[in-house]
Amino acid sequence: MELLKQKIIQEGIVLDGGVLKVDSFLNHQVDPELMMEIGRTFARLFRDSGVTRIMTIESSGIAPAVLTALELGVPMVFARKRKSLTLQEDLYTEKVYSFTKREESEVTVSKKFLAPAERVLIIDDFLANGEAALGMARIIRQAGAEVAGIGIVIEKSFQAGRGKLLEQGYRVESLARIASLEGGKAAFV
Ligand code: G4P
Ligand code: NA
Ligand code: NA
Repeated sequence: MELLKQKIIQEGIVLDGGVLKVDSFLNHQVDPELMMEIGRTFARLFRDSGVTRIMTIESSGIAPAVLTALELGVPMVFARKRKSLTLQEDLYTEKVYSFTKREESEVTVSKKFLAPAERVLIIDDFLANGEAALGMARIIRQAGAEVAGIGIVIEKSFQAGRGKLLEQGYRVESLARIASLEGGKAAFV
């Protein structure tokens, strides 16, 4: 997506450790027009996939996920993150380990908002090691539902996530694929 790449080039800040800061339009301040265009693009890519629901994880996945849901005319649910949780019967729960943050969290979705016959499109802001997307996919399978695909706003292609998701047979569509952040500059695939 050309508009997104321009935004990354103009406003992205490369931090140590291969981290791209995009606080001005995605992770803190949110650019509504850009999100609308992102929603339209995901909707176009997955229009024929029989999507009945969008799923993301709080918090930064919510903006692109809700605009994709609006375009496809389906509901959106976001998985909640908690440090530790006593088991609750009305929740689907999976553990997700973050390599970036070096911490494990539990992600949960209420059984009320995910039914067995659904086809769920996973949307997230970043794909790094793929653990968040894999956690969501496990929740969807726990419910007896299917993963219709995975839509990512910014993929860090130099990390392992994409490969792990493809290995499991999921369709992955990333709107910007970053090959390298070396020398403080984003280079695209
Ligand atoms: P993974 O799911 O692909 O394995 O990613 P990982 O655990 O490493 O990422 C942990 C958090 O850091 C996620 O946000 C993810 O979106 C974010 N992240 C990873 N790499 C980058 C990066 O280069 N730039 C930015 N801006 N974020 C990155 P989170 O903890 O879920 O936070 P939230 O922003 O969604 O609330
Ligand atoms: Na994030
Ligand atoms: Na995220």
